[in-house]
Amino acid sequence: MIREIQDQILELKQKNDVAVLAHSYQSPEILEVADITGDSFALSVKAQELPQKNIVLCGVRFMADTIKLLSPEKRVVLPVAEATCPMAEQISPERVLKFKQENPEFKVVAYINTTTELKAVCDVCVTSSSALKIVRNMPEKNILFIPDYNLGSYIKKSLPEKNIVLWNGMCPVHAAVTVGDCKRAKAAYPNAKFLMHPELPQEILAYADVIGSTAAILDYAKNCVEDCVIGTEKSIADYLRITCPDRKFPLLSKRLMCPNMRLTNIMDVCKAVSGEGGEVIEIDEDLRLSAKFPIDEMIRLSK
Ligand code: 13P
Ligand code: SF4
Repeated sequence: MIREIQDQILELKQKNDVAVLAHSYQSPEILEVADITGDSFALSVKAQELPQKNIVLCGVRFMADTIKLLSPEKRVVLPVAEATCPMAEQISPERVLKFKQENPEFKVVAYINTTTELKAVCDVCVTSSSALKIVRNMPEKNILFIPDYNLGSYIKKSLPEKNIVLWNGMCPVHAAVTVGDCKRAKAAYPNAKFLMHPELPQEILAYADVIGSTAAILDYAKNCVEDCVIGTEKSIADYLRITCPDRKFPLLSKRLMCPNMRLTNIMDVCKAVSGEGGEVIEIDEDLRLSAKFPIDEMIRLSK
């Protein structure tokens, strides 16, 4: 059944000139039919180079919005309109503008997990894989980092030369992991590598052997020889168990399941590729130009 839907998607992609982009958290059957898979940085940058006029983005809304910001001439579709990232709205654009007015010496750095309206009032965007490099490359010392307190804390600790002020947002999925989860995993898998996403709190990252984006975690796990405890969404552990069946990939915590990333199924992708399902992303042109600025800065500063 799944194989048949996948074949249909492959056919429709050709017929309708569609490229499918899938975030690393998507299910294996979606990843298998994607033209590009990866973390949020790879998806936003690589979409620009695609020849197809239509893009179906399997992930959450801010990812589809970012692609539309950079490629306005393309028809960008999010297969399930309800697939959003709760962290993206944890600070209002008005609050950012007020901060900027009161602190003109600060630059505002936004995690890419933000709404288009928020990006429009920020100076630079970062992703989990590019954040350290970008903030290090910024000439400014004073930075407000929004909205993720945990990723911000990780950057602040790694770059003590910067004066980084943090907002108190968070990913509810990664923030739910406890020190007890880490202790249990260490006791059960003493020789495994602990691979963790920087959206995890500092007290959890203290147990990490490797800290990286979703794609970096996948890469490391595929290329090492040890078992790996996976400190990010469960889909990554599930995928690794299929691709590397000779090793163990226990999940750091059973709480690591993102309901929003799990909303999209292979049938939704099929409908979106056929042109009948999903939401077509539309962004007002003035808003698009303002929100594109920090994304362009992200790409420039990550080189
Ligand atoms: P990446 O930038 O690592 O793909 O992370 C996106 C995300 O939402 C992780 O929870
Ligand atoms: Fe957002 Fe967290 Fe889900 Fe990533 S895992 S999409 S940050 S809620």
